[in-house]
Amino acid sequence: MRILGIETSCDETGIAIYDDEQGIMAHRLYSQIAVHADYGGVVPELASRDHVRKTIPLIKDVLVDANVTPQALDGIAYTAGPGLVGALLVGCSIGRSLAYGWNLPAVPVHHMEGHLLAPMLEDKAPQFPFVALLVSGGHTMLVRVDGIGQYQVLGESVDDAAGEAFDKTAKLLGLDYPGGPVLAKMAAQGRAKQFKFPRPMTNKPGLDFSFSGLKTFAANTIQQAIQPHLSAAEKTQIKADIAYAFQEAVVDTLTIKCRRALEQTKLKRLVIAGGVSANTMLRENLASTMKKLQGEVFYPRPEFCTDNGAMIAYAGLQRLKSGVHQDLTFKATPRWPLDTLPAV
Ligand code: KG4
Ligand code: ZN
Repeated sequence: MRILGIETSCDETGIAIYDDEQGIMAHRLYSQIAVHADYGGVVPELASRDHVRKTIPLIKDVLVDANVTPQALDGIAYTAGPGLVGALLVGCSIGRSLAYGWNLPAVPVHHMEGHLLAPMLEDKAPQFPFVALLVSGGHTMLVRVDGIGQYQVLGESVDDAAGEAFDKTAKLLGLDYPGGPVLAKMAAQGRAKQFKFPRPMTNKPGLDFSFSGLKTFAANTIQQAIQPHLSAAEKTQIKADIAYAFQEAVVDTLTIKCRRALEQTKLKRLVIAGGVSANTMLRENLASTMKKLQGEVFYPRPEFCTDNGAMIAYAGLQRLKSGVHQDLTFKATPRWPLDTLPAV
């Protein structure tokens, strides 16, 4: 079976064709970074308008790349939530309309299920059951996964998501949006042990997260450490040291909670997905933790950590195979708890 996947939940237009025998036949991604850069964050109305401009041309490109006609597809999957409502509506309306026009089933997909299943696109794919750490710009969750749609949320952020904390701290450091990757790059120039950030909620039992305090801690640290008399080079070095300490605190906190989740569930397989899973320090830390625990860690290739069409096509195909498809309507669901999805 072969499916077209459409992702438009935030600031990336991602389109892909996935075939369960041939794998990913084509995928394209258009990032709106330049559209939102001047504003320091995603402007929802601009995001929707840009998806309107880019989605259909990208679908045409992907069909050409894969050398596939619409008649050779078995369905169309699109992200129906969670995300920005206007941005979601673009993918939903285009996906549903093309499915109607091409006489194909339309499959609404949960964006976080897409992230969660993205490691299945790799040669080294995890077997069920596993613990998944989902870390994106909008979500931070630990999930016990027993199969597709069998999700038990073990813990989540009570305030900012990990990616959001990266983005906000990056902004405080004067870095461009999206801050996560830029802050990580800056942290690579930073020195260890110059600053000590807290590890929020690690002293209490439980698997929930809280990252908003780190942003406030970063703001205070920057204010105290970056003094006017310092040279530009000294300021740059101190900022890199702060970036290092911040990143280390987020990575440590995530690692402690992953370890705890694995102990609690007695599972040995860990999956990490979502934009922040592209972070090198996080990957290295989790890899060495899992080695110590004699377990295994699985993640998508970096380009499938952040938003993309391939993960939506993959998740959509699993849902389609189980008989899921939408009648002649579409609905964007900006808030959609992951554990309300039916099991496959
Ligand atoms: O999954 P994603 O592409 O979009 C959402 O569904 O939110 O995640 C985007 C988030 C942003 O907050 C971005 O700053 C963060 O992932 N991110 C990173 C890195 N790459 C992306 N954070 C830390 N280190 C990275 N290398
Ligand atoms: Zn995402």
